[in-house]
Amino acid sequence: MAHLFRVHEIGDPEVLSWEKDDLDPPGEGEVQVRHTAIGLNFIDIYFRTGIYPVSQFPYTPGLEAAGVVESVGESVGHLVVGDRIAYASSQSGAYSEARNLAADQVVKLPDAIDDQTAASIMLKGMTAEYLLCRTYPVKSGQTILFHAIAGGVGLIACQWAKHLGATVIGTAGSKEKAELAKEHGCDHVILYRQEDVVKQVMEITGGGGVPVVFDSVGIDTFNQSLDCLQPRGTLVSFGQSSGKVPPLDIGLLSAKGSLYLTRPTLFNYISTRDALVACASSLFQLVEGGEIRVEVNQQFDLIDAPRAHQQLASRNTTGSTILMP
Ligand SMILES: NC(=O)c1ccc[n+]([C@@H]2O[C@H](COP(=O)([O-])OP(=O)(O)OC[C@H]3O[C@@H](n4cnc5c(N)ncnc54)[C@H](OP(=O)(O)O)[C@@H]3O)[C@@H](O)[C@H]2O)c1
Repeated sequence: MAHLFRVHEIGDPEVLSWEKDDLDPPGEGEVQVRHTAIGLNFIDIYFRTGIYPVSQFPYTPGLEAAGVVESVGESVGHLVVGDRIAYASSQSGAYSEARNLAADQVVKLPDAIDDQTAASIMLKGMTAEYLLCRTYPVKSGQTILFHAIAGGVGLIACQWAKHLGATVIGTAGSKEKAELAKEHGCDHVILYRQEDVVKQVMEITGGGGVPVVFDSVGIDTFNQSLDCLQPRGTLVSFGQSSGKVPPLDIGLLSAKGSLYLTRPTLFNYISTRDALVACASSLFQLVEGGEIRVEVNQQFDLIDAPRAHQQLASRNTTGSTILMP
């Protein structure tokens, strides 16, 4: 038996309903995991509010967690009972005390990474890896713009970009968030509520613009992100915390300088076991080596997930947030 959240309809955080479940044994290719820490992500809000469609109701939210393997289904070769594991999985269900999931989406945790850190980095940190190393491989000496730099993905990506040798321009919604970003290596923080982002980026880059913008804010920032780019620059639009970007006339990309636009998602970058393991290993290496420092800035009891959602949606969080079962 396990407690879990179920969502029966689209709506406010109150649609998260705390229920009991008789957990079946894991099926073929699955493991049963008892969670020790669960990651909160903005994508959980997109599903709850209907910005992203869910395949069926009710569903249990949550794509990221750490825990211990409690039992192993048939045909699982790489995990045994008692293994410390973590995952970022496209199969939702992390808002639970325990669950079954496909074993090939799970990786073993190195001893040096504790469970709370793991639950904070699997989805956000692997996102930083694919964005900066594969969607647009950032090179030493480049200056990049990364929005929401003090957020969960933002603080990890900031440190990763510094590790790659980039100069990082970030945007943040408050002075406190700006300070935090600077403590994590951000070279220039633009306070977008009081400063003109395009003007500041042009000033910092001597009028040339940046070769790449990583934009997870969406509708509020999309156009200014295009205006911050050099000719033939790339806009990586990877989220919509402020709302969905409306349909676009692709002629705009030509008019603004033969720009590239991509809308990537993590699960296309870790869709094979080899890709997942390589991505997670790069992340673990940087965290173990101290190049990426991860603080859990907010911690809630799992049962308080509705309040955690409200805080994340209201921009009241910084860095990573976890839910404790
Ligand atoms: N495509 C992918 O593969 C992928 C994977 C992971 C995450 N993401 C996206 O990356 C983004 C960051 O995710 P996260 O979980 O780490 O969240 P987060 O960055 O910790 O939180 C969102 C931040 O966005 C900023 N923001 C700007 N306008 C906002 C608005 N109207 N409402 C709420 N927030 C607003 C706020 O920072 P300021 O106060 O500084 O503005 C807020 O703290 C999300 O958009 C998420 O969907 C995409």
